[in-house]
Amino acid sequence: MITKTFYTLIFFVLTAFSFSSQANSEGEAIYSALGCASCHGANGRSNDESIPSLAGKDVEWIIQQLEYFQSGERQNSYMNAMAPMAEGFERSIAEYLFMQDPQR
Ligand code: HEC
Repeated sequence: MITKTFYTLIFFVLTAFSFSSQANSEGEAIYSALGCASCHGANGRSNDESIPSLAGKDVEWIIQQLEYFQSGERQNSYMNAMAPMAEGFERSIAEYLFMQDPQR
């Protein structure tokens, strides 16, 4: 079950990656494949006041927050579950988000 989900996810990432020719396509593909967009919104612009927008945020700061959620230094039940899935892709996700326009 978990293995099947994992391979589906990898397939999705690779497919999205190979069909996208934009810069930061890896970060974009992973951001959507991991479901980050379902909470933080398309292009990192959240529509929900209880969830922070990530568009345009500093690259190093985003990476740092993901590492804090991974280590448990920063506590949030959603993010403590989500951040470990982004392991190895923190920088590409952060670079993608940094390049998004924070304005709606
Ligand atoms: C189930 C909803 C949900 C999902 C899915 C989710 N997040 Fe979050 N995220 C949150 C919430 C809620 C917070 C605010 C946590 C807090 O208040 O400390 C947050 C905080 C963050 C922050 C810190 C933002 C800030 O302003 O402090 C970053 C960076 C982040 N998320 C990245 C991601 C990434 C990358 C993914 C995908 C791997 C992801 N999130 C998936 C709900 C989610």
